[in-house]
Amino acid sequence: MDLENLNIFVVEDDNEVRELIVKEFRSLSHQANSANNFYDAKKWIKNFGKDSDLFLIDLQLPDGDGFALLNEIREVNKEASIILMTGFINNKILNKAIKNNCYDLIEKPFSIKSDIIPIAKRCLNAAFLKKENDRLNSKLLHNSKLAALGELSATIVHDVRSPLTTIQLTCEDIKDEFKKENEISEDVLFTHLAQINKACQRINKLVDHLRNYARSDSGEKEENKNLLELIENSLFLVKQKIRNHNIKVEVDLEEKVSSVEIVCFPNKFEQVLMNLMSNACDAMKDCPVKKLKIGTYVKDNSLLISISDSGTGIPENIKSKIFDSFYTTKPKGEGTGLGLSIVKNIVKEHSGELLLESTVGKGTTFTVKLPRSKIISSTLKGD
Ligand SMILES: Nc1ncnc2c1ncn2[C@@H]1O[C@H](COP(=O)(O)OP(=O)(O)O)[C@@H](O)[C@H]1O
Ligand SMILES: [Mg+2]
Repeated sequence: MDLENLNIFVVEDDNEVRELIVKEFRSLSHQANSANNFYDAKKWIKNFGKDSDLFLIDLQLPDGDGFALLNEIREVNKEASIILMTGFINNKILNKAIKNNCYDLIEKPFSIKSDIIPIAKRCLNAAFLKKENDRLNSKLLHNSKLAALGELSATIVHDVRSPLTTIQLTCEDIKDEFKKENEISEDVLFTHLAQINKACQRINKLVDHLRNYARSDSGEKEENKNLLELIENSLFLVKQKIRNHNIKVEVDLEEKVSSVEIVCFPNKFEQVLMNLMSNACDAMKDCPVKKLKIGTYVKDNSLLISISDSGTGIPENIKSKIFDSFYTTKPKGEGTGLGLSIVKNIVKEHSGELLLESTVGKGTTFTVKLPRSKIISSTLKGD
């Protein structure tokens, strides 16, 4: 997004005011379109609203309520910047404007040059900064994933090598059998081929997994995903740490949620679980008891996914800092301090909450709390 040549849509029934606003934006090298009634505005929004950067909406229109236009806008353009104009402001209108995530509410009479234009500029600047921030966050997330992939390379080598060895040995077996009898029975051949096939499937699955994981999340769409599969995929990504530190893993799914599906951005959600698991493993590195427990259950209309460790625990005085970007207590080269800040953002993006319970010397539990609306109801047992 550039701060020039933006698309602005103005809805105002006073033709003189409307034309002046449009003229002013055009003189600033923006593209401005307008409507002077609800009906035309609705039609325009449906057709072109998705490409608009800013909407200026008069709340009192002769044939409808300006607030109803906001629903039309949000339907086609979730992130749109909206400024409202009205002859009358009270608390009810103000609350509605806030609830609809409007940037500002301008009271009439106003000056176009000294009220409308400066507010519009601030609004567009804020939108630009938010977009830029989202872009950088997504890049950060991708980079941290690639770093985790690097850490995983030893596991990957191991996991590819073992089925490859199976394939190689099975081929040798076929050759030996054939040499012995100068023929090979169909039974034996098919058994060997099935082994090779299974090993190929294992490699394929691994490659698919890696490809999905390395893919950038920026254009990722929300999907219905099986919770257990999300947990297993995330565990795979910390397998190296689990092996290295000899950690015991326990997955405890409440019967009710054993085949539950959730609406999520799968790659991002796996990133959440994987970061929490990875931190848990790090915290147990030097502890005598090493137990990573993943629990999921439904409580008070929420789905809870908890990741508990028997590690060092988090001292009270750093609990408020650990979610800050770049805050780490790990040695240089081991920690980036980005994990929890990324986790928190993604959980928020899923309309969820991240809860923390920790006792020094005993361990830590991070719980991802998702609203009931993220659960696909038909997949929840006994509901
Ligand atoms: N399960 C845990 N147990 C103990 N400390 C933790 C745990 N999870 C996070 N922390 C603390 O929070 C800090 C920030 O974590 P994070 O943002 O993931 O960055 P990093 O892992 O790179 O240090 C860690 O350095 C650690 O001090
Ligand atoms: Mg971390």
